Amino acid sequence: MKRIGILTGGGDAPGLNAVIRAVVKTAHNVYGCEVIGIRDGFDGFIGQEGVIPLGPEKVRGLLPRGGTILGTANRGNPYARKVIRDGREVTIDVSDEIVKGIQRLEMDALLVVGGDGTLHIGHELFAKGAPVIGVPKTIDNDIGGTEVTFGFDTALTTATEAIDKLHTTAEAHHRVMVLELMGRDAGFIALHAGVAGGADVILIPEIPFKFEAVLAKVRERVERGTFFSIIAVSEGAKPVDGGQVFSRPGDEVYTPRLSGVAQTVGEYLEKQGFETRVTVLGHLQRGGTPTAFDRWLATRYGAAAVRLAAEGKFDRMVALSDAKVMDVSLGEALAVPRRVDVRGDAVTTARGLGISFGD
Ligand code: F6P
Repeated sequence: MKRIGILTGGGDAPGLNAVIRAVVKTAHNVYGCEVIGIRDGFDGFIGQEGVIPLGPEKVRGLLPRGGTILGTANRGNPYARKVIRDGREVTIDVSDEIVKGIQRLEMDALLVVGGDGTLHIGHELFAKGAPVIGVPKTIDNDIGGTEVTFGFDTALTTATEAIDKLHTTAEAHHRVMVLELMGRDAGFIALHAGVAGGADVILIPEIPFKFEAVLAKVRERVERGTFFSIIAVSEGAKPVDGGQVFSRPGDEVYTPRLSGVAQTVGEYLEKQGFETRVTVLGHLQRGGTPTAFDRWLATRYGAAAVRLAAEGKFDRMVALSDAKVMDVSLGEALAVPRRVDVRGDAVTTARGLGISFGD
């Protein structure tokens, strides 16, 4: 193994730089192997090539840094790239350029660090002959085949701190506070932060909710003499008789943008006579320095991905199982996305604590 490439794709997550650092150090120290960084996801292979040679000196001081030194893009699908042709916008497939780029740059492996979308692209590129290895990243924790993705713990910590802060002002003003959290179709951030922060209601995509049930919980608390409530809402939560709320529709390039469900819950409670405020935590969940857990996991994932490259084990994804780092088939990991187990111990624990899921 002489040279490997690495790219970070999709929305960023705290810990990406820790992966890059671990890859470069392991490749250099253990295998005497060169690492090339590809800029802005798969975009770095297209048009004017964006590559950065990554020696150990380039990754110094990276552990606490959020974001990614390589840049990323979540509209970077090479199978559906928008370009202007004859003055018109058209969508074209440039995936062959990626495969040619890997060959031209003489990479023995390409480490693709990303979420569902980026890993899917990697899996499809493998079918075209690209020596791809996946590293699962996302704050949403929604990738199958692994117990956890790096980035989740940091997002969870930020979300829990937000709930703690909302608690004090909610109590002071006798208000209902609704906090919208990220997660797309998986409710892990809202569930874990809701339990860790002591929310009274948690709404997640896996358990469709009834507005009346949310109201009942808020009323029950008032009747018991507690005049404030905290509601943690996952951005993908939906009422039993309605759909998810989007602030922007999707197309072949962009996925639809989820946002607004907290506002609908807040407006409903206001109409029922409860003074309510809505907070959307948004991208604060993606930014900042990774927690120790995320640095530790990201480092182990990065090192394990290099070991897979050395063994020539492609179309595999590094994963955590029983707290051990191992590898799984990329196709199998992507086949079933990870979702909250509505009968699992986390939901049962929350219910036992008196938390309502609005069902
Ligand atoms: O997948 C990670 C995520 O943070 C989702 O939770 C959220 O819906 C989405 O990315 C937002 O992405 P963007 O960067 O396009 O706003």
